[in-house]
Amino acid sequence: MPAFDSAFAIGSLQLDRRLMMAPMAGVTTTPFRQSVRRWGAGLVFTEMVSSHGIAYGNRRTLEYLACGAEEHPIGYQIFGADAAIMARAAEACVAAGADLVDINMACPVRKVVKTGAGAALLGAPDTAVAIARAVVAAVPVPVTVKLRAGLRQGDGLGRLLARRLVDAGIAAVCMHPRTAAQLYRGVADHSLTCALATSLPAPVIASGDIVGRDVGASLLDGGCAAVMVARAALGRPWIFSQILLGAPLPEPAARLKELNLFVEETVKAMGPRAVGYLRQFWSRFRSSGTIDRGTARELMHASDTTAVQALLASAGPFCTESALHL
Ligand SMILES: Cc1cc2nc3c(=O)[nH]c(=O)nc-3n(C[C@H](O)[C@H](O)[C@H](O)COP(=O)(O)O)c2cc1C
Repeated sequence: MPAFDSAFAIGSLQLDRRLMMAPMAGVTTTPFRQSVRRWGAGLVFTEMVSSHGIAYGNRRTLEYLACGAEEHPIGYQIFGADAAIMARAAEACVAAGADLVDINMACPVRKVVKTGAGAALLGAPDTAVAIARAVVAAVPVPVTVKLRAGLRQGDGLGRLLARRLVDAGIAAVCMHPRTAAQLYRGVADHSLTCALATSLPAPVIASGDIVGRDVGASLLDGGCAAVMVARAALGRPWIFSQILLGAPLPEPAARLKELNLFVEETVKAMGPRAVGYLRQFWSRFRSSGTIDRGTARELMHASDTTAVQALLASAGPFCTESALHL
């Protein structure tokens, strides 16, 4: 099995480890990416960005393209169903600093699928391939695609499309082996990911239920080039050092220090909008034993960033029994 900290390449992009932070809409902002990097995440991704929003210069959308000088290597993920617009969006991503452009063919959310984008492309393979070709031709960086197993159980659409995408010039495929119909329920069937990894002439990155070192290692063993952590990193950025190095759970004080730094950087980057953004993390940091239940509850109701930071400043290091076994 290749080690998590061994090098590999996606097209022309050399990476020094096989452990990545998955793209997550509403989550993978610059401060979040910086937080997981501190603990060993390799390639990180932006949230998925609308190609239409980029092409038409939507101010909010363009904010997603900002990335700091220390954020490399970084992949930008775009979604859309129009090949020419996707190509223009990919060019803008590269101008903004993308080391890699990823095309989302995995998102099952209705708002995205009804426009023909995201997982809908699994059911429109000719369009998917046309988009891939257009994006590959438009940018000098490697282009990857994130796929689901299919639209519905057993249709095999992800595997079939992956082969055509690689023929069209895609440098790697990320497989999240749930179907679009499953949304985020059930378990990720990584027998599909490993079967793809051993048959596709391009690296396959595994996404789905990667919650620890053993799961990740079994996927590298099964032929995957790298693994991508998503939900398990919420409230537990240190999961990356646990997977990469087999490091122990950090001490309570170190966990609280990381949370404070993440919050400080989020407030700096987002201003008042940080309050709403951070709400999704409080229960996660509670279940990782970083803050206690009462503090999490109060943070949930905090109405401004001053209140958030004051609550955290008065919170002492906390550690539950269960946290020790994470
Ligand atoms: C809140 C949330 C937002 C997500 N946003 C994206 C996204 O923007 N692009 C994408 O390709 N996948 C997205 N995903 C899917 C994840 O990248 C990942 O493939 C999926 O959650 C499975 O991994 P997990 O079981 O480790 O969470 C999202 C998942 C969640 C829970």
